[in-house]
Amino acid sequence: MIPHNKPTIGHLELKAMTKVAKQGNLSNFKEVKKFENAFANYFNLSSKNVIAVSNGTSALYLALWSLRARGKKVFFPVYSCSSLRHATGMIGAKERLLDVMENFPNMKIDYINKSKGITIFPHMYGFPSKIKSKSSHPIIEDVCQSLGAKINNKKVGLQTDIGIFSFYATKLITSAGQGGMIISRNSSLISEIRDFLNFDQRQDNKKRFNFNMTDVQAAMGIVQLRRIREFLEKRERIFEFYKSLGLPLLDVKSDNVSPVRYRTILLCKNPKLLIKKFEKNKIKIINPLEKYELLSTGRKYKNSINLAQKTISLPCYPSLTNKELNLIKKNILKFERLI
Ligand SMILES: Cc1ncc(COP(=O)(O)O)c(C=O)c1O
Repeated sequence: MIPHNKPTIGHLELKAMTKVAKQGNLSNFKEVKKFENAFANYFNLSSKNVIAVSNGTSALYLALWSLRARGKKVFFPVYSCSSLRHATGMIGAKERLLDVMENFPNMKIDYINKSKGITIFPHMYGFPSKIKSKSSHPIIEDVCQSLGAKINNKKVGLQTDIGIFSFYATKLITSAGQGGMIISRNSSLISEIRDFLNFDQRQDNKKRFNFNMTDVQAAMGIVQLRRIREFLEKRERIFEFYKSLGLPLLDVKSDNVSPVRYRTILLCKNPKLLIKKFEKNKIKIINPLEKYELLSTGRKYKNSINLAQKTISLPCYPSLTNKELNLIKKNILKFERLI
């Protein structure tokens, strides 16, 4: 079976993790610090503006916590990862759901200007959006699916108050299956989060938590971040391969927008049947977000419902071989009538 997604892990990642595992102290955070520094460097920031955490959901929770979200309204699209709903609920905020654009998975910018509360803006599937807000309320950029995507040649994640990232197994880079990062130009938000993140060996009575990334995770993350250019180029080549077949793929058109190919999303007439046919031929394609997964199926979210009903995601990851791609191509041509 050709999987829909697969992390790309090489000997350098394994060597780095083994070295940390063998050194006896698994929790001195030396590797975590190095990963934060490397991430800061990638975004041209100081390490004061970056903090590593246990995963993307805890990054969201901590971002909401730092923005004092408890009891406030938090706006986000129904067409997104359910993590947004969980983090909002766990912090004790009131969720407010919004629709996405027509035939595009990102939220309308107009909604932010009207929003009377905190907004979480996910850059879905590797497509970055320009966020220019007239609202005085804070915005969290959710960059879990778009690490390295650019607007006007600048990586997204710093357009708003705070940006969050995930290094889950299927993401653009992974830190051993779980991991996350938070960035902000406002270093006091980051230092508040750093204080709250770790309860261990504190001299006061303040309540804190444990949202730490481990050194073994960070050791892999450092190597993966070093390889990100290679990963993004390979993904771009695969996307171009699919595009060369004349397929109706979701994409951005503007010159100053540089997406990354986290997902290759195909608009199609009959996703369910296409998924079955491919499965029979040992290729895993998926509906990237099914209707039942939408955070609400209320009829007013018509663009989200429409997108959920007519899309599939094709395999797109650096370790896909030419042989595998050609097999996928053969099947696409065979079942073209379903697209
Ligand atoms: C857009 C988005 N936000 C948040 C998350 C949560 O990240 P994690 O799985 O690391 O908790 C994910 C990934 O699952 C995601 O795709």
